[in-house]
Amino acid sequence: MYNIIKFDTLPSTNKYLKEHYNQYDEFTVITTDNQTNGKGRMTRVWNSTKDDLTFSILLKPNIDSSYISQIPLIMGAAVCRMISKYTKSEIKWPNDIMVNNKKIAGILVEGITSTKVDAIVVGVGINVNSTNFPEDLIIKATSLKNELNKTIDKEKLLNKIIKEFIILYIEFLNGNEKYIDICIENNYLKNKKVYVNNELIEVLDINLNGNLLIKDSSNNIKELYYGEVTLNKVYEE
Ligand code: BTN
Repeated sequence: MYNIIKFDTLPSTNKYLKEHYNQYDEFTVITTDNQTNGKGRMTRVWNSTKDDLTFSILLKPNIDSSYISQIPLIMGAAVCRMISKYTKSEIKWPNDIMVNNKKIAGILVEGITSTKVDAIVVGVGINVNSTNFPEDLIIKATSLKNELNKTIDKEKLLNKIIKEFIILYIEFLNGNEKYIDICIENNYLKNKKVYVNNELIEVLDINLNGNLLIKDSSNNIKELYYGEVTLNKVYEE
């Protein structure tokens, strides 16, 4: 059903799959123990070592590009469910996974589009067994090992996540939006105040389209779409 290919080192698993997607079948997973020039969202860098899980999965769906925005939520739901088998985790819409108010995983979805969607690369970085975070990340990031005090078998975790993702993704293609329910149930931002483009807004929920339902600073209820916003700091009273 899927095929995992492991490289000792790669600049970026997402970049590699974007450049070679023609060579591989759908559900090919590229993973590496040493990502040296990994990309996060915006201009963030995501490098990783053998302690952590770094992978990208290739999709070749027959969908309109407007549906690409659902893919981070589907992967978010799969990662959240599988991490929650070890410790409670939540989805920070649209593409981070949090444990105890700290980021444990990030997702980067990139579409290869011409007149249609040719392929989609879904990249995931999970802090699994790393324990030494740089000074500026100590309060913002965690790993499974930090939370549980034990080493986790990351190949097992990878297989569990891929299996769960493929189930939720095929359901999505068939019109079943179970991933949305998982996102709604595990919404890290629910009832939190967040700065969006310097405006303090309150997050109410995730709606059935997978968008964020918010109350803006003038008390208007609005929907925020994926890609439209970057969430800044969560406001703490
Ligand atoms: C983020 O939090 O900004 C998203 C991080 C996504 C990182 C993953 S690691 C595997 C894949 N390859 C990359 O270069 N980036 C993604």
